[in-house]
Amino acid sequence: MSSKITISVIKADVGGYVGHSSIHNDIIQTAKEKLNNAIEQDILIDFHVTRCGDDLELIMTHKYGTDAQNIHKLAWNTFVACTEVAKDLKLYGAGQDLLSDAFTGTVKGMGPGVAEMEFEERKSEPIIIFMADKTSPGAWNLPLYKIFADPFNTAGLVIDTAMHEGFIFEVLDVYKRRKITFSCPEELYNLLMFIGALRRFMIKSVYRKDGVIAATASTQKLSLIAGKYVGKDDPVLIVRCQSGLPAIGEVLEPFAFPHTVEGWMRGSHRGPLMPVAFYEANPSRFDGPPRVIAAGFQLCNGKLIGPRDLFDDPAFDEARRKANEIANYYRQHGSFEPHRLGLEDLEYTTMDKLMKNLESRFIPE
Ligand code: F6R
Ligand code: MG
Ligand code: MG
Repeated sequence: MSSKITISVIKADVGGYVGHSSIHNDIIQTAKEKLNNAIEQDILIDFHVTRCGDDLELIMTHKYGTDAQNIHKLAWNTFVACTEVAKDLKLYGAGQDLLSDAFTGTVKGMGPGVAEMEFEERKSEPIIIFMADKTSPGAWNLPLYKIFADPFNTAGLVIDTAMHEGFIFEVLDVYKRRKITFSCPEELYNLLMFIGALRRFMIKSVYRKDGVIAATASTQKLSLIAGKYVGKDDPVLIVRCQSGLPAIGEVLEPFAFPHTVEGWMRGSHRGPLMPVAFYEANPSRFDGPPRVIAAGFQLCNGKLIGPRDLFDDPAFDEARRKANEIANYYRQHGSFEPHRLGLEDLEYTTMDKLMKNLESRFIPE
């Protein structure tokens, strides 16, 4: 067992209430009971259960490091128990993110999303956990770039000697299942060439140049895992803040711009990412628009002091207003791109069937 603390955020959609818009309280209660038992058995130091839209979010602290089998098993068993509740209540899409009937040692590749980091807890350890619904892990590329590489966003990159050297970005090529690191600011232009392509290249983690881990994201892509669409891979992101890392306000700042992400209705549309307070994380208009919440915690010997609802701030009202304006703009495109995704990126499609049925009616031009 390590002297370091590990934060594991493991999430899954185990059934929606109503439709895909939110989560029933009985599911939250069941998850809390399961994780409480794990505290009594000394598996966890602390936990917080929450939700964003229809996603159940298990935020856990412990000493077992990342990819620990007992922690993943705990999360898996919790999701299975919650799925039973969802089935009893006939909630929508019960167990939709659990792709297998049996646990095999890790939840990775089995449906749930996972972001984990292990570190030596500092004298004071402020962290933010971002959780999004109706979008995909590429949604973090733009904010992570701004937080850790854009001096117009993060003043500390310019005026804090502890951050002045810059950061290292670890980027996954999810199509080829390989990764590469970019050292910034030296390799900024290289980095942007890759992470501008949201579907294929995703920022997995960010490190300070002395090796301190600063951020890590979930990068599971359900569509690739299952070989076909089985549910959205709504992502989570953990960011450490302050004292030589970006300040809370520098980490939140990119979300004042509701940038365009993929997801929304049927996982097949583009729309704005709207930063909301916890109680507003219930995407209903056209099953959206996509939402993000920010839960702030102070860690205290592994205890999660919090959360503070960080987007519950009138300073983000303008981002929400703008997101609604952008949502109106996109919605008026109906079935046309760029609102609807390109043919190869649709998660629901009738095209294969149509092509087959209509093949004989095509004639040479
Ligand atoms: C998007 C999402 C929803 C559903 C839509 C249709 O991530 O979960 O937009 O795709 O409500 O759902 P089904 O096909 O289950 O009726
Ligand atoms: Mg759902
Ligand atoms: Mg969801």
